[in-house]
Amino acid sequence: MSYCIETHGLTRVFGQHTAVAGIDLRVEKGSFYGFLGPNGAGKSTTIKMLTGIIAPTRGDARLLGYDLQRRPLEIKRRIGVVPEDLCLFENLTAREYLGFIGQMYRLPRAVTQARSEELLSLLGMADTGKTLTIEFSHGMKKKLSLAAALIHDPELLFLDEPFEGIDAIASRTIRRVLEQVIARGNTIFLTSHILEIVERLCTHVGIIADGRVIRQGSFAEIAPGGRLEDAFVQAVGGPPDAGAGLSWLGDPGL
Ligand SMILES: Nc1ncnc2c1ncn2[C@@H]1O[C@H](COP(=O)(O)OP(=O)(O)O)[C@@H](O)[C@H]1O
Ligand SMILES: [Mg+2]
Repeated sequence: MSYCIETHGLTRVFGQHTAVAGIDLRVEKGSFYGFLGPNGAGKSTTIKMLTGIIAPTRGDARLLGYDLQRRPLEIKRRIGVVPEDLCLFENLTAREYLGFIGQMYRLPRAVTQARSEELLSLLGMADTGKTLTIEFSHGMKKKLSLAAALIHDPELLFLDEPFEGIDAIASRTIRRVLEQVIARGNTIFLTSHILEIVERLCTHVGIIADGRVIRQGSFAEIAPGGRLEDAFVQAVGGPPDAGAGLSWLGDPGL
């Protein structure tokens, strides 16, 4: 089995708090891996460690066959990231931003230009002209961030809550692009706290809660009936009276 991401005891501690508590991830090449968990479970911290934004406290990881600690540049060249806080340069237009990213990856200028035009047109942003990214809506920022993550044709794409705060049209466009990335044989690692997104898109699922990976496997293994809810609630645990609802809403006398 060739794993695209493999971690051993990957851990991150912030002060007294263990955000990620020794996780062993196995992400197969070509899979669309959904990393699902409630808010604060450790999803973004995991992505930040895997993409070299923060260092692990303990443990190790291999991405695309390279050791994360020893070969960070080889990894960075081959991955794309849409981070949680998009960090676009605010005083650039969409084209200028993609031009800068293309230079960073040392793509020939003509390749950057051609790919930028194609990405912007596909994402419905071809006519943003001189508008600076600081003036963009949240959805436009997210789409531009996706374009920047794709411009060097990465083998492995990381997306942290890519559909958060996105309208239905932008969301459909992003979904189509992601399907193409997978059809090309590349791998996607996506985090979400929303079951339906993972159900709709992912071939593989990892469930994280309190910094620990509780379940991991193919979608069919984790959700035999095609629905993740039971597996998720079982793994994460609901409040004790989740089924009872609000007493006063059920009382016609009030
Ligand atoms: N830079 C940080 N400093 C201190 N605590 C942090 C930091 N980043 C994340 N945490 C804490 O780590 C836990 C996991 O956070 P995060 O990985 O962002 O969760 P998720 O993305 O699953 O919502 C949370 O309790 C969060 O408050
Ligand atoms: Mg997060």
